[in-house]
Amino acid sequence: MAKMWEGRFGKETNLIVNDFNSSIRFDCRLYEEDITGSMAHARMLGKQGIIEQKEADAILEGLQEILRDIQEGKIHFSLEYEDIHMNIEKLLTERIGDAGKRLHTARSRNDQVALDMRLYVKKEITEIQGLVLGFMEALCEKAKKNLTTVMPGYTHLQRAQPVTFAHYMMAYANMLRRDVTRLADCLERMDEMPLGSGALASTTYPIDRKMVAEELGFATVTDNSLDGVSDRDYCMELCSALSILMMHLSRLSEEIISWCSWEFKFVELDDAYSTGSSIMPQKKNPDVCELIRGKTGRVYGDLQTLLTMLKGLPLAYNKDMQEDKEAVFDAVDTVKQCLQVFTPMFATMELLGENMKKAASKGFINATDCADYLTKKGLPFRDAYKITGSLVGECIRRGKTLEELTLAEFQEFSPVFGEDVYEAIDLHTCVSGRSVIGGPAPQEVERQIAKIESFIASHSSIQ
Ligand code: ARG
Repeated sequence: MAKMWEGRFGKETNLIVNDFNSSIRFDCRLYEEDITGSMAHARMLGKQGIIEQKEADAILEGLQEILRDIQEGKIHFSLEYEDIHMNIEKLLTERIGDAGKRLHTARSRNDQVALDMRLYVKKEITEIQGLVLGFMEALCEKAKKNLTTVMPGYTHLQRAQPVTFAHYMMAYANMLRRDVTRLADCLERMDEMPLGSGALASTTYPIDRKMVAEELGFATVTDNSLDGVSDRDYCMELCSALSILMMHLSRLSEEIISWCSWEFKFVELDDAYSTGSSIMPQKKNPDVCELIRGKTGRVYGDLQTLLTMLKGLPLAYNKDMQEDKEAVFDAVDTVKQCLQVFTPMFATMELLGENMKKAASKGFINATDCADYLTKKGLPFRDAYKITGSLVGECIRRGKTLEELTLAEFQEFSPVFGEDVYEAIDLHTCVSGRSVIGGPAPQEVERQIAKIESFIASHSSIQ
């Protein structure tokens, strides 16, 4: 089959090279972006008189038909034409003849692919933000129902101080809020239209880049043609933001995996979102969470692929850059798939509040409050800390919790203890006393929820 560049070449491309060089297997998914970009380019060429208006019209009509045929599954892309750009151009020329051959005037595949990828990334960022916001809504829902569900908070995975499930969930909601804004930053920075950069040195034709940018919904145009064709920063920024997002999902997955175990039993996943074992009849496994944790590594790998692919490349375009696509596609697909399954799995997860409470009642997580009680009675905190430490040691020896000690036993350690110590170290008091901004007290967490909900509402156009 004849190549676009056959004039310069004396031989046909080796078949293995054809296969190796071709990106159509994966860039075929950019067909819509490619056609949209070409339509804007053709309109501009017509308006500027670079091609005749009737040729521009024929191109537009032809591209529209090709788009429909692709959507209806009528088109078979060919390896021979290497990538989505040349496949579509070839189809167009087959259909409308010579006018099709004029589409590539004042354009190169280098700025064409740069445009297609930007259009794709812009669209996907918005979709991913929408999915993250949906998950944040599920977090708020769970939080609202569990403002007083006391559970142990941990440091070093040792029971530390009491919090509530709502407080815990809002920690994750804040991480995801930052993820949404990180993606927005990336979107804002990359919102520049590269077409018109040509192969690397722009063009001598009197093109109107701003018209194309406006038509395609870009805020502005790229400011340097060499940079325009070789910038892939936004792909890395995207994968970096997605890596951080996956890290957050992975941490929560890890928590849920632990909480599902018999050792914790804080939550029960819905049967529809769990899996069994082929040999052990008693098993109910949190595979979804494990896969999200596992797939986080894939997304990190995609980021690494891009960073390494680009680090040694001289300006401007190099074919290495074709490798950007699979990494970006994989990261985007993985993140979307994870969010699509995580949200309903999380929303249907049942909480076992009694078990959380039981765990919170052991492990002396009210010891800090006991020390604070003594401090509020006038002891220096370090002395109060020491007395409470001795009390805990004694409790461990006697197999008791702090609240199970009698007043006389308390007073063996300090005469300052009074009847009101029981109220002071009650778990609900411990939680509701922490009402400073950021604390777990129910009315404070209600404020945190309202703030996240208004963040979600301010993004209602995305969702
Ligand atoms: N398929 C190529 C890519 O994804 C398109 C640009 C090719 N340009 C070139 N000069 N070979 O990067």
